[in-house]
Amino acid sequence: MARDTSKLRIAAAGDLHCRLDQHGRFRAFIKHVNAVSDLLLLCGDLTDRGLADEAKVLAEDLAALRIPCVAVMGNHDYEAGTVKEVCAELAKANVRVLDGDHWVFEKVLGVAGVKGFGGGFGKATLQAFGEAPIKAFVQEGVNESLKLEAALGQLDTPHRVVITHYSPVDDTLEGENPMIHPFLGTSRLSMPIDYYGAEYVFHGHAHHGCRQGRTPGGVPVYNVAMPLLAKHTPEQRFALIEIPLAGEDSRRVFEERDDARVDVPTSH
Ligand SMILES: [Fe+2]
Ligand SMILES: [Fe+2]
Repeated sequence: MARDTSKLRIAAAGDLHCRLDQHGRFRAFIKHVNAVSDLLLLCGDLTDRGLADEAKVLAEDLAALRIPCVAVMGNHDYEAGTVKEVCAELAKANVRVLDGDHWVFEKVLGVAGVKGFGGGFGKATLQAFGEAPIKAFVQEGVNESLKLEAALGQLDTPHRVVITHYSPVDDTLEGENPMIHPFLGTSRLSMPIDYYGAEYVFHGHAHHGCRQGRTPGGVPVYNVAMPLLAKHTPEQRFALIEIPLAGEDSRRVFEERDDARVDVPTSH
């Protein structure tokens, strides 16, 4: 069946939490993503303990991807102190890991990515006052926000999306214990998004949150933590959005690419 080239289809998921004994666990997920999307975004916690060998297990399945894949790391990916090795294993499966930088898809779509950090939301956002450890905690959130600002500020593509692990809004945390919301994200991440603009934001980390929210400026935010998606749509463990493309942009994506696929199998 002829592919509808008037839209770019983006699949997004986070919190795969791949473990050493999970060879092949994501095979069906990858097959499904290949069948219905043009790009896969992964929003952190790709490994469970931050082990390079866990990333290797995941990369075995990711190697079957027939579309580009862009990711950010999550807090779990830092657990073992070997995040560089985790990234190196994922790179073998052509996963591009963003950390305050961006990736551009055929001059049409820009993806800005950062892990993010906690710190709280709105008027309850933690301020840099008092003890040094409190200031250091706040500074980490500020740093991540500045990294996102730098990534977005350099994008001049007609379309742009943002991926983070921590949430930039409180909306998508509804369902989580309110006591831990400040550790699940911070409004500081939403500021550069609203300033520079984006069509969509995808994040993970909030396994028990809800699926959709908006930044104060109105940008749609999707919580794509896989445990959450598995609960609501077990038949599709990723969010799927479509971005309408102008004729010129469609040609760039679907006709001028060496590896462009026009016909895509619809079964999975
Ligand atoms: Fe997670
Ligand atoms: Fe997480």
